[in-house]
Amino acid sequence: MTSRRRLGVGVIGFGWMGQAHSRSYRRIPTLFPERTYDPDLVLISDNVSARVDDAVDSFGFREGTTDWRAVIDHPDVDVVSICAPNMLHEPLAIAAAEAGKHVFCEKPVGGTPAQTVRIEAATRAAGVTTGVGYNYRWAPLVQYAKQLIDAGELGEITNYRGRFFSMYGSDPMGLLSWRFMLGEAGHGVSSDILSHSVDLAHMLVGPITDVVGTGHTFIPERPLPKKGGTHYDRGEPGDPIGSVENEDYFGAMVEFENGAQGVFESSRSIIGPESQNAFEVYGTKGSLKWNLETMNELDVFLVGQKTRGYTKVYGGDRYPYHGHFVPGDANAIGFEDMLTIEDHEFLSSVAADRQHTPGFAEAIDYVSVQQALLTSWETRRWERVTRLAPR
Ligand SMILES: NC(=O)c1ccc[n+]([C@@H]2O[C@H](COP(=O)([O-])OP(=O)(O)OC[C@H]3O[C@@H](n4cnc5c(N)ncnc54)[C@H](O)[C@@H]3O)[C@@H](O)[C@H]2O)c1
Repeated sequence: MTSRRRLGVGVIGFGWMGQAHSRSYRRIPTLFPERTYDPDLVLISDNVSARVDDAVDSFGFREGTTDWRAVIDHPDVDVVSICAPNMLHEPLAIAAAEAGKHVFCEKPVGGTPAQTVRIEAATRAAGVTTGVGYNYRWAPLVQYAKQLIDAGELGEITNYRGRFFSMYGSDPMGLLSWRFMLGEAGHGVSSDILSHSVDLAHMLVGPITDVVGTGHTFIPERPLPKKGGTHYDRGEPGDPIGSVENEDYFGAMVEFENGAQGVFESSRSIIGPESQNAFEVYGTKGSLKWNLETMNELDVFLVGQKTRGYTKVYGGDRYPYHGHFVPGDANAIGFEDMLTIEDHEFLSSVAADRQHTPGFAEAIDYVSVQQALLTSWETRRWERVTRLAPR
């Protein structure tokens, strides 16, 4: 057996993402035998004590606490995994960096561009390795799409369409959870799901230089949340209501540095598409399209193919990472498998003492675009993207 570096992991926030990443850390040893580290689940923190108990009882954390500071202070914790709501990203990430801990933070790394800038500056000054939860980068067929683009199979990229349409806020009886509050989530879809779409475009096509965009809130009021409930609970007619403080929708046109033209749309209150994080990339020699809802399929059109039309490519072990989960062709993998690849890659970077991609530098790439979009929403004009922190 090769010697591996023990990496003590502390997780803060044990909701959807905290549980998903914790499952990843546990199963990495069974999926990545070539790993250079062993994750050690040291400490879990959530402000709901029943979730802490579950994390210790069912997920195998050594200890649990309702005080997040204990995670950062624990001498056996090397990596802090931030899976708490957006408003906590800044205090948590900065405290972790100042304690010299490596930081993985769920997107959007703070709720506003200004918060992301402060977080990135603190981690850069501390010299710790950072990772951001842009998990869709790691889907095997997204990786394959990047290989095709980088190999020139599509020719010069001419245009890009990115959209993230989700129904998570489409029911007006859905509660006014933290996601709808400026002080807790930061901005709406522009901080939340649009960040994924633009990050995928950054990875596949490159930097964006100019933008014009607009936002809108379609459901301005929602029932107030109940104590101890979750984002997924529903209110009843007649329940007390409160105002939604951030946008349900954002649409944008963009220009990329390489001359490609792009459009993006994201909505959390649309009816129909349930989790349609999708992109289309068009080039002078071909095009391709991918959609999270059918994440094990990639449609590819190449000029000069004998049979004209899109070829449907199914996921399989000949594409990056897929064979770690299931052998053969067209045996599907799923959402949490992407997170496991993400966590494995991040911990590999930490174990190798190197900076990670996507890290907080890539979070800055996104919020620089977001800031230009928010300005454009106000000015109703095209705006130039200015990078908000040094590279
Ligand atoms: N990458 C993705 O696909 C993806 C998907 C969903 C959410 N996210 C991001 O993950 C983060 C968490 O989202 P979620 O859906 O898991 O939310 P969630 O509401 O399901 O979970 C958040 C958890 O944090 C806990 N928490 C709140 N205050 C705390 C405190 N002071 N100390 C410790 N724990 C505290 C809550 O009790 C809850 O268990 C957000 O930043 C969100 O944007 C990313």
